[in-house]
Amino acid sequence: QRHLSTSAPARRAQVEKLTVFGAGLMGAGIAQVGAQSGLKVVLSDVTDKALENGLNIITKSLSRVAKKKSPDDIEGFTSNILKNIEITTDAAKAVHDSDLVIEAIIESIKVKRDLFGFLDEKAKAECIFATNTSSLSVKEIAESCSTERQARFAGLHFFNPVPAMKLVEIIKTPQTSPETFEALREVTLKMGKAPVSCNDTPGFIVNRLLVPYLLEAIRMVERGDATPEDIDTAMELGAGYPMGPFKLLDFVGLDTTSYIAQGWREKAQSGEISKELVEPIGLLDKLVKEGKLGRKSGQGFYEYETKK
Ligand code: 3HC
Repeated sequence: QRHLSTSAPARRAQVEKLTVFGAGLMGAGIAQVGAQSGLKVVLSDVTDKALENGLNIITKSLSRVAKKKSPDDIEGFTSNILKNIEITTDAAKAVHDSDLVIEAIIESIKVKRDLFGFLDEKAKAECIFATNTSSLSVKEIAESCSTERQARFAGLHFFNPVPAMKLVEIIKTPQTSPETFEALREVTLKMGKAPVSCNDTPGFIVNRLLVPYLLEAIRMVERGDATPEDIDTAMELGAGYPMGPFKLLDFVGLDTTSYIAQGWREKAQSGEISKELVEPIGLLDKLVKEGKLGRKSGQGFYEYETKK
C-alpha cells in the first residue's frame, strides 16, 4: 500500500484556467462553453473592439441558454457566467498562469505560428496549447513551439454555433502525448461536448466529408440541375439534415468554405487529397469576390436582413 502510494505518478493537473485567443464567433463560443462549465476563462484579442464584440456574442447566446435553464432569472444566470470571463489585449498576461490555450484567430499559418511561438515563452511549461484551425496542418502550427510543447500541442476543433454543437474533434499530431490527448478529452467532456479523435489530415473528419458535399451542391446549381431552394429542401426532408447545403454555406461563410477548398487544392498537389474534390468553382469565387459571404454580410446564396 505504502509503496504504491509513494511511487504512483502524481495525478495529472486538471485544467482550471483556460485562455482563448480570438474573440470572433468561434473564440467567443469556446470562451462561453468554458465559462459555463466552471473554468476560469481569459478571452484575448488584439483590439478592445474585437473583445467587446466577443462579449456581445457571448451575452446574446447566454440569454438564449438562460431562457431554457433559468427562465425566471435570465440576467442573474448570464452575469454569473460572465463573471468567469476576463478580457485582455495583453497576450502575455492572458497566458501567464493558464492551463490550456485554445487559439481561434484568423486562418493564417504565419499569424498562428507567430502567436504560438510568442506564447511558448510566456506560458507555464505544463500549459497545453490547442488550435481550432479548420484548414491548416496542426503539426505545422505546433512546430513554432519547443519540442516539449509540441508534446502538449493538439488540434481542438469546435463547430458553429459552438454552444449548440456537441462535437469536438481532438486532432493528434505524431508528437501529441497520450497525457495531452487525455487532458483534452476530459476538458471537452467537462464542457458538455462529445470528443472524437482524429489524425492531422486535411479537413479532419467533419470537414473532409462535409466540404466536398457543399462544393458539389454549388456545382449542381452551376450546372443548372436544381435551385438552391430545392436542394436545401431535398437534403432537409430527404436526408434529415438540419440545414440544407446552401443554408449551411451561408451560415458557415462562403469565404471560409472557399478558403478551406483553396488550402486543399495545394494539398492535392502532394496527393493528400484528390484533385477532383477541390476543382475551382466559378460561382463560389464570384460570390466571394462580390463580398457575398453569407449571413454575416447580409447576402450569400440567400438574402438576410442586416441588423443595425
Ligand atoms: N447559442 C446558444 N444556443 C444556441 C445557439 C447559440 N448561438 N444556436 C442554437 N442554439 C440552441 C438553441 O437554443 C436550441 O437549444 P435546445 O435544443 O436546448 O432548445 C438548439 O440549439 C436548437 O436551436 P433552435 O431550436 O433555435 O434552431 P434549430 O433547431 O434550427 O437549430 C442549429 C439551429 C443548431 C444551428 C441547426 O440548424 C443546426 O444544427 N445546423 C447545422 C449546423 C452545422 O452543421 N454546423 C457545423 C458547420 S461546419 C463547422 O462549423 C466547421 C468549420 O470548420 C467550418
